[in-house]
Amino acid sequence: MKSFLITGANRGLGLGMVKYLTKNNKARIIFATCRKPSEELTKLSQEHKNLHILNLDVTNFTKIGEIASEVSKVVGSQGLNVLINNAGVTTKFTKLQLVKAEQLLENLTVNTIAPIMLTKSLHPILKQAVEANSDKMIGAQRAVVINMSSILGSIALNDQGGFYPYRCSKAALNAATKSMSIDLKKDQIVVAALHPGWVKTDMGGKNAPLDVDTSVSGIFNTIEKLKEADSGKFLQYDGTELAW
Ligand SMILES: NC(=O)c1ccc[n+]([C@@H]2O[C@H](COP(=O)([O-])OP(=O)(O)OC[C@H]3O[C@@H](n4cnc5c(N)ncnc54)[C@H](OP(=O)(O)O)[C@@H]3O)[C@@H](O)[C@H]2O)c1
Repeated sequence: MKSFLITGANRGLGLGMVKYLTKNNKARIIFATCRKPSEELTKLSQEHKNLHILNLDVTNFTKIGEIASEVSKVVGSQGLNVLINNAGVTTKFTKLQLVKAEQLLENLTVNTIAPIMLTKSLHPILKQAVEANSDKMIGAQRAVVINMSSILGSIALNDQGGFYPYRCSKAALNAATKSMSIDLKKDQIVVAALHPGWVKTDMGGKNAPLDVDTSVSGIFNTIEKLKEADSGKFLQYDGTELAW
C-alpha cells in the first residue's frame, strides 16, 4: 500500500486512520480530505511531509470532479492505491412517525451519492496504480476502494427498525459497493464495504465498546489482506464477513 485518500479525516475514524498510517510509516503518500482541518490533523501534516490535506466537502460535486487532478499532481504515474470513502453522517434514532425528508436526503447525499461520485472521479488514477504495480497481487498493493458502511445498513441483520435515513443510505452504499465490484473487476480494482464496529467517536458515542485505535488497526489489517475474491464483500473491521 503506497498512497491513500481518506475522506472525513479531520476527526473520528478518519483522523484515526491518518494517525495510524503516519505513526506506523505505512504510506508513501496520504491525502486527508476534510471540510475544515482540525488542530490535530494540521499538526500531523506539519510533522509528516507525505501528508497532504485537501479541502473537500463531499457534497460539493464540482469539487469532487476536480479532486482527481489535485491528487494526480502529487502521485504522478504511480496513481492512487487506496481510496477510503469514510466521511459520513447520521441522525438520532428515527421512528417512522418522526422521520423527515430532509434527513433522508442529507444522509443519502453524504453517505451514498458522495462515495459514488468520488470513486467515479478517482477511477482513472486507481487504474493507473493497478498498471504501475502489475507485478503485484490484486489487492491493496495495486488498488482498492473501501466504502465505510455500517452494520445498520444490513437488511438481513435489521431486527430493531428505525434509523431510516442512516440505514437506507448505508444499504444503498452497500448496493453501490456491489455494483462497483462488478464494474471495476475488469480493471482489477478490489471494492469492499467495511463496518468499523461500534466505535467511540462523535458518531458512535461514549457507550461504544471499541476505541478508535482497535477499530483502525483492524481495518488496515483487513485492507492489507484483501484479495480478488473479496471484492464485493461486506466485511467487519476484523475481517468477519457480514450479511447484506
Ligand atoms: N463510530 C461508529 O460506531 C461507526 C459505526 C459504523 C459505521 N461508521 C461509519 O464510519 C465513518 C466514520 O464515522 P465516525 O464515527 O468517525 O464519525 P464522526 O466522528 O461523526 O466523523 C464523521 C466525519 O465525516 C465528516 N463529514 C460529514 N459530512 C461531511 C461532508 N459533507 N463533507 C466532508 N466530510 C464530512 C466529518 O467532518 P466534519 O468535522 O466537517 O463534520 C467527520 O470528519 C462514517 O461513514 C460512519 O457512518 C461509524
